[in-house]
Amino acid sequence: MFTRDDAVRAVENAADAATLFDTGPGLAHRRYRELAAALHPDRNPGDPRAHKAAATLNRLYTDWKNSRHRTVTTATSAYTLVRPHAVGSIATTYRTTGPHLVKIVRSPALNPLIHAEWTALRTLDYFTERHRWLRPYYPRLLDTSGPVARGDRAFSVLEPLVDGFITLADVGKAFPEGLDGRDYAWMHRRLLRAVAGAHRAGVVHGHLTADNVLVHPEQHGIVLIGWSFAIEDGALPLAADKSVRYPPEVHKGQPVTAATDVHMLHRLMLDLLAPGETRQREFAKWCTQEDPARRPDAADLLDEYDDLLGELYGPRTFRPFTIPETGA
Ligand SMILES: Nc1ncnc2c1ncn2[C@@H]1O[C@H](COP(=O)(O)OP(=O)(O)OP(=O)(O)O)[C@@H](O)[C@H]1O
Ligand SMILES: [Mg+2]
Repeated sequence: MFTRDDAVRAVENAADAATLFDTGPGLAHRRYRELAAALHPDRNPGDPRAHKAAATLNRLYTDWKNSRHRTVTTATSAYTLVRPHAVGSIATTYRTTGPHLVKIVRSPALNPLIHAEWTALRTLDYFTERHRWLRPYYPRLLDTSGPVARGDRAFSVLEPLVDGFITLADVGKAFPEGLDGRDYAWMHRRLLRAVAGAHRAGVVHGHLTADNVLVHPEQHGIVLIGWSFAIEDGALPLAADKSVRYPPEVHKGQPVTAATDVHMLHRLMLDLLAPGETRQREFAKWCTQEDPARRPDAADLLDEYDDLLGELYGPRTFRPFTIPETGA
């Protein structure tokens, strides 16, 4: 629930309807009702600021509803948005009437990040033509907004990975006690392949978070998504995500390198593995050393990690992985 002050501020600071209502699939109406209740004239008699905010709220909600079936166009195609799919750190992704996922930045100021994603995904697409086995680890960019008018928001059109996929963040939530090392093993092996492959293509992901990994539990699939912070190895980052715990070099304003990804990937491992997975945690700590130069390369880690798994669990076998029912 919102207090009067929170609700007034939320409405006054909302850049547009999407900022206020794209809070998650199916949550817009609830958000509207909660804000409307907090701003209601009966609860705020003689309060012109609350009255004005209530009027703005109604206008923004109407805008939002009208935009739900809005169509975005590119040089060659039109995509009709049906509903928000997920809210990311800089963009919201939308399901469309077709087999597409449209990722629109939440503010035109973030357009350069979407452009960075196009560059990264095109580089990976080109690279995986010669290294086909790496293709499943990266999302497909199907179309882009191209250059947009000043003040407009750029977008990517991606292949939707929606059947049987969930984010690694959701996997983490389903296992509040942490993941069994044997389950994390197949995910991490594939993550290392995805990251090492990108590094060979000259791309640093730069934003390896649990929201940016899609997992297909049944097929043991891993796809590395969320490439808008991607840059060339050794470049300075375009922006930083305030909600992310970055490696020390990022805080010091130093360039982002392949070693930055290695750190972030193993920070993720430490966050998700059960506390009792001592050996794997030691491995992860070795990869999150303070000095980037001391961290191993992702490509070298492929064998190192397989050696560790061999020592811990013996020959590899397929271990089915299912997400426990939450009853929710
Ligand atoms: N190809 C895809 N298929 C299915 N879901 C996706 C796909 N791409 C993104 N998503 C979902 O949308 C969310 C937001 O997308 P994404 O991570 O690409 O944007 P972002 O977080 O705003 O930016 P960044 O590129 O910095 O991560 C993801 O966390 C994921 O849940
Ligand atoms: Mg993301």
